[in-house]
Amino acid sequence: MTLNGLLDATETPAAESASAAAVADTCSLDNYLVQPDHTMDARIAAARARLGTDVVLLGHHYQRDEVIRFADFTGDSYKLSKAAAESSAKYMVFCGVHFMAETADVLGRDWQQVILPDLNAGCSMADMAEIGQVEDCWDVLERTGLTQGSGLVPMTYMNSTAAIKAFCGERGGLVCTSSNAPAAFQWAFARAEKILFLPDQHLGRNTAYELGIPREQMVVWDPWQLNGGLSPERLRAAKVILWKGHCSVHQRFLPEHVDNIRASSPETKVIVHPECRWEVCQKADATGSTERISQYIDQAPAGTSFAVGTEIHLVNRLAQRYAPLGKQVRTLDESGCLCTTMYRISPQHLAWALENLVEGRVVNRIQVNDEVKHWARVALDRMLEVKG
Ligand code: 13P
Ligand code: SF4
Repeated sequence: MTLNGLLDATETPAAESASAAAVADTCSLDNYLVQPDHTMDARIAAARARLGTDVVLLGHHYQRDEVIRFADFTGDSYKLSKAAAESSAKYMVFCGVHFMAETADVLGRDWQQVILPDLNAGCSMADMAEIGQVEDCWDVLERTGLTQGSGLVPMTYMNSTAAIKAFCGERGGLVCTSSNAPAAFQWAFARAEKILFLPDQHLGRNTAYELGIPREQMVVWDPWQLNGGLSPERLRAAKVILWKGHCSVHQRFLPEHVDNIRASSPETKVIVHPECRWEVCQKADATGSTERISQYIDQAPAGTSFAVGTEIHLVNRLAQRYAPLGKQVRTLDESGCLCTTMYRISPQHLAWALENLVEGRVVNRIQVNDEVKHWARVALDRMLEVKG
């Protein structure tokens, strides 16, 4: 069975008998993709019921309503990694993106299997740092003498490959999410003078600034330039070396959007995700992870209005949930920003993955190799110890 041309390594290359071929054909993804969304509801519910406690569904806040309504746990990346680490289900179906499923595999037990319903659900930010580029960067930092003793700790945002998490774990570093980034920075600064922060320059800059580090003490390492585009002097003078990566969704929120809200509706509270650029975060009333944004609105008194700078599915869901409670929620920009890779997890993909499981077939398994897993786990365990 292939998914958009990708061969799933966990599947048998050819059906062994005519009857097996017939079963496989009814479970072919192509048969699902031509069906309308709503026809999947009953099938997903029936497959869930058949699988019982063998399966747990983890759903990130950016997922579509038609998918997230089936999740056993919803949350931001930190909350979902904790749920994965504590789950005792045989199968974890991750309705999110690739780095989240990899993290669940690292934190899960050997007998657990993680499934990502569509393998094309990646993250453009995570793709902006490749392990080879990070190793090259480290070589330069080593040659500059920055990695000796308690010189430098590497830290990666959750939105990165397992290989980069392992790289950080092996060198005394850790993973952070947007909900515990300030505490993770403090953890790192208690052990080293400098931090190399991967791959989101904006979360790194916003967090370091919040902790009182002036912007002059931050530099941006461009992996596409010789020596990151930085002189040894600039590297030595920096407290934080930020990787040149960003989220293309959150980049679309601009300072002008906040100005427009202030001018047209001064009482509206502006809350943004810390992946937004520094100028936007500075103008906002609050910043926080997807879970924090939800809590912030939940705890506000009736009658409060919000303009939210994050992915449109979460914003729309919050708008619907809180309208009956007298709270108005809208997107910070005019059109709303969509994470197209999160959107790839459709009810059809979910039904396909679950019905294959009912038939005893694991499709789209995400499996991190053992060597990477060991050090990625070290970095992730440190993350889980550092509470937000
Ligand atoms: P959260 O950890 O805040 O859910 O963020 C994940 C993410 O990818 C935001 O773009
Ligand atoms: Fe990646 Fe941005 Fe989508 Fe989050 S919103 S998963 S950072 S592309």
